[in-house]
Amino acid sequence: MTEFLHFPPSFTWGAATASYQIEGGWNEDGKGESVWDRFSHTPGKVFNGDTGDVACDHYHRWREDVELMKSLGLKAYRFSLSWARILPQGRGEVNQAGLNFYSNLVDALLEAGITPFITLFHWDLPQALQDEGGWANRNTALAFAEYADVVSKALGDRVKHWITHNEPSVVTWLGYLNGIHAPGVQDLPSAVKTAHHLLLSHGWAVPLIRHNSPQAEVGITLNINWTVPGSNSRADRDLHRQGEVWTRWFFDPLYGFGYPSDLQADLQARGAFPTGMDFVQAGDMHAIQVPTDFVGLNYYQRQVMRAGEEGNEPQTAFPQEKTPQNYTEFNWENYGHGLFGVLSRVYFHYLPPKIYVTENGASYSAPLHDELRTAYLQSHLSACQRALQAGIPLEGYFVWSLMDNFEWAEGYRQRFGITWVNFETGERTLKDSGKWYAEVIRRNGLEATPAPQGAIR
Ligand code: FCB
Repeated sequence: MTEFLHFPPSFTWGAATASYQIEGGWNEDGKGESVWDRFSHTPGKVFNGDTGDVACDHYHRWREDVELMKSLGLKAYRFSLSWARILPQGRGEVNQAGLNFYSNLVDALLEAGITPFITLFHWDLPQALQDEGGWANRNTALAFAEYADVVSKALGDRVKHWITHNEPSVVTWLGYLNGIHAPGVQDLPSAVKTAHHLLLSHGWAVPLIRHNSPQAEVGITLNINWTVPGSNSRADRDLHRQGEVWTRWFFDPLYGFGYPSDLQADLQARGAFPTGMDFVQAGDMHAIQVPTDFVGLNYYQRQVMRAGEEGNEPQTAFPQEKTPQNYTEFNWENYGHGLFGVLSRVYFHYLPPKIYVTENGASYSAPLHDELRTAYLQSHLSACQRALQAGIPLEGYFVWSLMDNFEWAEGYRQRFGITWVNFETGERTLKDSGKWYAEVIRRNGLEATPAPQGAIR
């Protein structure tokens, strides 16, 4: 008989979205332009020329979306604020209509018994700030602190869960190094400054949020794959270590270890610091290591790192048979045990007081009968349970995503929703995985996917 896994009574069952991916209303009611508006309006940047101009039209359909969440029995909803909707120029004058939109949403959520988790920055920087250099400019960190102050003053009486940033490493390496994401910059020195200013802005924002929203929990969300060396060869292990610019470059300063010296040396050799690390000013590292209440982890896939033959680029190996079950439509490996892996890696290394899985999910385009997504979620939730059994303070889980949405450079072709969205009509229909998730929440548990035999790797 399959084992039934019970979750703690207080476990936070949630779903997540992000402003640019669902809202639409890109230039309505005084909203300013964001870097993602600019990027998606630039030909050739996003698959199929897709934009977030309308997206899921959540800006107009938010009441219906709260009803959808209610029907799922969600305990919490993680969403992000569009900075440019609130501060069209990134700082200075506040657009009251933008603030009202979020204030009404928060009220409706609370009335429905759903706890709001707000992410301040999920990538849609006001274009006005980009025009001054964006995150490569230290002044953007100051503007972020101002923005955090404005919104936590306005919503902090009702919102008690705050996430400063979503995945700063993605902004850094995809936005400023390889340019796949907005703002499309390709410059290593700008990327390392970006990382620093993102972290610094977090450090400055946390005390302001605490001041404006007493008793609130404040944290940051970092992305983490389960990365493993393809073999114990020196080359594979070194490739794996270098890949930790995606994780340790962010975790270490946040938890008081500063920038890791080995990765600093790697970056230096690649020309990251033409004038040294002079962008790090006195007091910055102290500000960045401000204590937080939780860390949010976004986990999607395992990555097996294999150094290429001499002269070849490093590769990601694909160790499992290439089936839709094993690799989602994004070609991301479905590897539930890796979630146990990253939870342990982060917890036992950094000891955050609490952890939330703030995103986890799979890209499959099957309209309603999406059993592959259900299987993905089931094995990942089983891994969460094993983490709880191992004593890891995992407080909640947010499925990515509440509904199909604009998947950044991939446009609308990658669908992560537990709800199908017809992008022609805006109609929403719960998928089978959504019905299954509602049952998990109702029973506060699920049938286990068996643990792997032998070592997790
Ligand atoms: C994460 C992002 C989220 C979504 C998922 C698939 O990196 O935070 O917005 O795009 O990937």
